[in-house]
Amino acid sequence: ESSAASPAEGLIPYGAAARSDALVSDLPYRDAIIANCQMIVPESELKWAELRPTRGEFRFEKADSFVDFGRQNGIKVRGHTLAWYGAMPAWTEEIADRAEAERELVGHIETVVSRYRGQIPSWDVVNEPLAEWPANESSFRPSIWAKRLGPDYLSIALREAALADPDAQLVLNEYDVEYKGPRFAARRKALTALLRSLRDRNVPLHAVGLQAHLFAGRSIDDDGLQAMLAEIKALDLDVLITELDVIDYELPGKVAERDAMVAAMANQFLRAVGEVVRPKAILTWGLSDRYTWVPTYFKRRDGMPNRPLPLDADLHRKPLYDVIEEFR
Ligand code: XIL
Repeated sequence: ESSAASPAEGLIPYGAAARSDALVSDLPYRDAIIANCQMIVPESELKWAELRPTRGEFRFEKADSFVDFGRQNGIKVRGHTLAWYGAMPAWTEEIADRAEAERELVGHIETVVSRYRGQIPSWDVVNEPLAEWPANESSFRPSIWAKRLGPDYLSIALREAALADPDAQLVLNEYDVEYKGPRFAARRKALTALLRSLRDRNVPLHAVGLQAHLFAGRSIDDDGLQAMLAEIKALDLDVLITELDVIDYELPGKVAERDAMVAAMANQFLRAVGEVVRPKAILTWGLSDRYTWVPTYFKRRDGMPNRPLPLDADLHRKPLYDVIEEFR
């Protein structure tokens, strides 16, 4: 069977993570989002820390305005994320036992997913579930959910999301599954086993999100990645590329050279993926180098700005843009 695109299928939808404040304050950026994206995902507005600053309270202003922006401009909105260890408000550390954890997780998903039912057609229900070095499919990252509910937190979250919006595409999103080396092989193995176990138990799940924060200093394991994708396909799960960018902090300083290496890294990854599956969407984690998470975590030592995204800080297209266009 060929996974190559037939013309009738059209292009793979492209999108980007976006920031609600910049969509208001920065009109050229806003225009670039409208011009380039068929899909957007809020970088933080739907995370627990934003929605649930204090116990018992929901703050939807920013998320609502993000979703409105999408609707007004005919851009689909993805939801990110419902069960993650990151961006958790401090009060959730006080969740003391299993019953309380289940009540909080279920209540959150019920409220948030049903609020945006019909407006957010795709959710990263579970984000980054695996331990850094998973020994097996139940070696989870120690979120409050994994600590209080154990491996059941995944099926609890996915089942509740399916109840709250039966039409939404439910996604399990994961990172660091594309490289050579034992840590990454272990993560691929654990991810595949986890997906198989969710499938075996009829837990609602439709797709796997490959974050694809690509580290330019690492080597992609084409064979390992393709074997994992073949298993995902055999489980009848779709694939999305959810957070593509190329982390360039170890690359040489010259801009043209660096942009070419960034594009080549993404190209290798996308080619390897495309030989096995046709992703349902491809999103980058930001559109322009003007707004990127990369320098917060992976600042360059030479003090030059990072260039991980398809458009530069002046909103001009870079070689990475063309690589994505060609892939679609
Ligand atoms: C990042 C945001 O981009 C930052 O602004 C924030 O400070 C931390 O989170 N994987 C994910 C995203 O799933 O939620 C992360 O987003 C980037 C890594």
